[in-house]
Amino acid sequence: MQIKNKELPLPIIQGGMGVGISLSGLAGAVAACGGMGVISAAHPGYLDPDFDTDMLAVNLRCLQEEIEKAKKTAAGRGLVGVNIMVAAQKYEQFVWAAVQAGADAIISGAGLPTELPAIAGDADILLAPIVSSGRAAKLLCRKWERAGRLPDFVVIEGSRAGGHLGFSPEELESKTAPELWKILAEVLDELRPFEEKCGCPIPVFVAGGIFTGAEIAQAQQRGAAGVQMATRFIATEECDADIRYKQAMVNAREEDVVLIKSPVGMPGRALNSPLIQRIAIQGRIPPQHCLNCLRPCNPAETSYCITDALIAAAKGDWENGLFFCGDNVGRVDKIVPVRELIEELVHDWRANQ
Ligand SMILES: Cc1cc2nc3c(=O)[nH]c(=O)nc-3n(C[C@H](O)[C@H](O)[C@H](O)COP(=O)(O)O)c2cc1C
Repeated sequence: MQIKNKELPLPIIQGGMGVGISLSGLAGAVAACGGMGVISAAHPGYLDPDFDTDMLAVNLRCLQEEIEKAKKTAAGRGLVGVNIMVAAQKYEQFVWAAVQAGADAIISGAGLPTELPAIAGDADILLAPIVSSGRAAKLLCRKWERAGRLPDFVVIEGSRAGGHLGFSPEELESKTAPELWKILAEVLDELRPFEEKCGCPIPVFVAGGIFTGAEIAQAQQRGAAGVQMATRFIATEECDADIRYKQAMVNAREEDVVLIKSPVGMPGRALNSPLIQRIAIQGRIPPQHCLNCLRPCNPAETSYCITDALIAAAKGDWENGLFFCGDNVGRVDKIVPVRELIEELVHDWRANQ
């Protein structure tokens, strides 16, 4: 499919996963198979020896190195995107770093990326917001239109996704959040007038609980251009996380998944690991040190340091890690090469078209 001036051979985006879960290893492998591989801009330099003393510079340098490596692996087949959380401190510097390093796309969520087009200007990079409602899609298009640019594509994250979720804790706990297909219909309705005005399509990708190629076909039958998937890509050989994170996904059962309160100010979905249980008992685990990495986080009040917890998870530390995952993780049963997973998805997608 064509997205503006770029060709995406397969209707599959591998969702960005921070910290350290989707870097060049995973993103490059997905792009080499014809999908869009997405590198997370959340602390790509977490393993660098200077990370604690010079976090911003290290992260910016490592993000650019990861983009360059992934593009090399992709060898021009699929696309390489970067996921930048709106909540990140120095957001604009990550956008510029992604542009300079030649990323094909920026996907931005965990908040509404209202300033993204003004920051990226007319750079040759696809810009996409993550939204969880038709209302958010409309609001965002209105704001972006004023900055002279509409989204090149849109990702909808439904309530079954992993990581941060754009729904209230009450909606999630009571399972009353609107279902993905309903949000898709609303977003398509809201985008239509903008597409008509600009005379170009705004492809929509749906995320959250997508597991099979048949679901990709179903998404397309309902008007989506494709899907964004994340949890299944953790259980791949090329995923950048420690093998123990991947194994935790394979071992997880449906009942091991919990909703958490994130210091980012949104609910999140993760495995019920020892850290989650300690926070539930103690109420608060005060951060040992603070690198001031998230705008909404106040170290004097936060119930734990999410960066430390996500870094521990990426390193496979089951006791201290926060293991984000989607609510479909119970269906993940083996670790496979990215190519095998994508071949399975494509085979199933084609069979159901
Ligand atoms: C481990 C993990 C980390 C994630 N980190 C981010 C992130 O940093 N930024 C973001 O926008 N979404 C993040 N997500 C959401 C995914 O990109 C994706 O949209 C979602 O998980 C899709 O649902 P699925 O996991 O059921 O396929 C994360 C998801 C997981 C599982």
